[in-house]
Amino acid sequence: MEQFALDAVERVTTRPAETYDSFTVDPLTPLLGAEIAGLDLSRELSPQQEKEIKQAFLTHHVLVFRDQHLTPDDHKRFAGLFGPLHPVALPAEDADPYILEISADKNSREVAGNGWHADGTADPEPSLGSMLHLTRVPEVGSGGDTLFANMHLAFDMLSPALKTFLRGLTAVHDGARPWLAQGQMPPAEYDVPRNEHPVVVRHPDTGRELLFVNGPYTSHIPQLSAAESAALLTMLYEHIARTPLLHCRVRWQPETLVFWDNRCVQHHAVWDYYPHSRHGRRIAIDGTRPQA
Ligand code: SIN
Repeated sequence: MEQFALDAVERVTTRPAETYDSFTVDPLTPLLGAEIAGLDLSRELSPQQEKEIKQAFLTHHVLVFRDQHLTPDDHKRFAGLFGPLHPVALPAEDADPYILEISADKNSREVAGNGWHADGTADPEPSLGSMLHLTRVPEVGSGGDTLFANMHLAFDMLSPALKTFLRGLTAVHDGARPWLAQGQMPPAEYDVPRNEHPVVVRHPDTGRELLFVNGPYTSHIPQLSAAESAALLTMLYEHIARTPLLHCRVRWQPETLVFWDNRCVQHHAVWDYYPHSRHGRRIAIDGTRPQA
């Protein structure tokens, strides 16, 4: 691996360890994700717990909470600590407008999120993050994991020359693309979002740079020719998908809640358990417009 990429990894793995008084933190990898133990999310958190969870979230980007028996209201209350809830784009009739049911079974022909992506990046203000609480996991016991990839590190590991080039670019994100990729037109009632965001954005809370393009939503880089844009985006997506250092893997159990930072991680829900069932609820939190 090139020295500039090793330097990027070293900057994360040698940072001083943080201490937490109100729960324990067990990192999934030195670079992404952590399991949090010692909190009951069905109860209101103390100000100290809330402060430390926010700190752990900014440090690890993906937090895993086991054995959380949550009602939809508990789930919403915990999500609400991080900001206003982000409405579901196309809520089912009579459904809670903030709860997205994530379900797959033997009748499924597609599942949500089965490929590297960030959620809703065609929106003018994509979500801050999502909390997914699974109540049913595949009977086979080992399928249906979710993979996450660290977009800070994805950017930091690139060469200085490419980083400088990318900083001058924007990308168009088009909400019609996920529908078209499945051979469907977006529903008539869907006000399809289409927005241009910088290719390299800064995390609004930490100021750290990160790579902000993803396969399902990003259509092109308008400053480049079509061929250049396609080649560059393909190279970046391969970098994200084929660099295991960027990844962590969450193996679900029933009553696990995972909270990921949609601003700086991509995720991939692995559909390897057909015809078994997997079910849960996802609640997202409002974000802000991505800024260079
Ligand atoms: C998604 O939000 O893309 C689905 C995640 C999952 O089912 O693990």
